This record gives sequence, structure tokens and C-alpha cells, in this order.
Amino acid sequence: MIIFKHAKNLADYILTLKAKGQTIGFVPTMGALHQGHLSLVTQSKTTCASTVCSIFVNPTQFNDPKDFEKYPVTIENDILLLERAGTDVLFLPSVTEIYPAGLTSSIHYDLGNLENILEGFYRPGHFQGVCQVVHTLLSIVTPDYIFLGQKDYQQCMVIQKLIQQVGLPVVLKAGETLREPDGLAMSSRNLRLTNSGRQNATAIYKALIHIKTNINAMAIEPLKLDAMEIIKRAGFAEIDYVEICDATTLLPLKTTNGKVRTVALAAAFLDGVRLIDNVIIA
Ligand code: PAF
Repeated sequence: MIIFKHAKNLADYILTLKAKGQTIGFVPTMGALHQGHLSLVTQSKTTCASTVCSIFVNPTQFNDPKDFEKYPVTIENDILLLERAGTDVLFLPSVTEIYPAGLTSSIHYDLGNLENILEGFYRPGHFQGVCQVVHTLLSIVTPDYIFLGQKDYQQCMVIQKLIQQVGLPVVLKAGETLREPDGLAMSSRNLRLTNSGRQNATAIYKALIHIKTNINAMAIEPLKLDAMEIIKRAGFAEIDYVEICDATTLLPLKTTNGKVRTVALAAAFLDGVRLIDNVIIA
């Protein structure tokens, strides 16, 4: 695995790969890697000749500075895992490499309603920061494919919108959410849970499965209340949302007729850690 710290050197190297006719797959990450990330590397390797991964804890997407300070950093282990997974190139830039002109950006991405609902509502500015960094990374790596985890369902939609808006020639592939044996969605933030928190964290998935199981038998509002109760009973201090939405638009559904592709999503705090998850209801 070749490691690049400078954008110019990486971009030059990518040009040599492209000159050989190689397709490039890109897996952007913020490190603290787990099997979910590695499954995206595997997916990229089956589709593309070369797989580029980036590790960059992007300051502009953290609406809560404490969350940024506490974001887990496990770089040596990450490098080991990426090497074992067969990653060809790792991009490991500094903050000034990505933001040479400083962190404030004059570009505003028009994300429509996606910016005002769910994650957009509870994390103001988050998706602008995500677009800022992903736009920059895509301009450097110029991949044919970008691989993202479906655990961040709304982020996948935002990045798809960014790609269309800017007209980038890249195809987004969303990888299935990987789960621990008890159902907890794999996430870098799980590392920050206490032992008892880790045991209780699975309630968020149980609540979403409760929705999936009962969607045809119950009305939406009582079903959401049930799900919130499951999460609260497990000791979560605060629930940002439990929503049942149209999977294509992310607009909340008031009723279901079994014909609209539906997604149930939740975000809640446990041990001061904000966990999110979603389950597709076919
Ligand atoms: O999902 C993430 O880890 C980040 O939001 C991303 C896409 C790497 C941008 O910083």
C-alpha cells in the first residue's frame, strides 16, 4: 500500500494509473476503521483495478466541537487493517492540505430539504462540511466509483446530490450496514461506549426492527412511540429522532400502504455518544 500525504503527489500517481486504463475505486473514511469500512474496500476491489482509501477527520463536518475532540483516532491499526484488506493507496492528508485557505468556505451546496430534516436538522452545518470535504477529495482522487456505508443513509443521499449538482463523473455505490452479532450497527463511535453502554446500545436496532415487524399492523405514530420507548428503556439519555420515511425522498410518512419503499431511521445519545442507525423496510 502506498501512502500519500500530499494531494499533488496522489493526483499525479492517479494519472499514471489512469494512463494504464485502470478504474479507480475510492473509500473515504475518518479512520477508527471497522469491518464496515473494510467491506467497502472489498467491494471496491471486486469492481475496480485500484482502490484508494482516505483517512481524514474532517473538522468542518462536526457541529459539536466536543464530538470532534473525542473522535477516536487509531491510525496505526487502521493502516494495518487497510494493508491486510488489500488497499492499494492510502491518502492521509493534514488539515492544511485539504483546507489551504482555511476552514471557512464561500461555497454553499444546495441540498434542498435534505439539509433541514433528520441529521440536517439536528446537526446544523454538518452536511455542508461533508460536501466540502467530499468535493475536495473527489477532485483529488477523481475516482470512477465512490463507496459509502448505508448506515449513513442521509449522507449517501446528500453525496449523490453533490455528485449530480457539481456534475462529477463518479458512480456512488452504497454498501450494506455491517452489524455486530447482537445487531448494533458497526460505527467508529462505538469505541467510545462504556461496557454497559455497549450492551444497551443494541436497543436502537431493536427499536427499528420493531417498526419493521409491525409496520403493517400498526399506525405510524404509535409505532414510533413504541420504538422511542424501547430506546428510552435501554438508558439512552436523549433521542433526536425516530422517523419512518419514504426511502427515496426521506420525507416522513404519515400512513403506509405497503407500496412506498420505506426506511426507519433513529438517532439517540448513550453515554454522551450519538448513535444513528436505519433499517430499510421493503
Ligand atoms: O462517513 C464518513 O466517515 C465521513 O462523513 C466522510 C464521508 C468520510 C466525509 O468526511
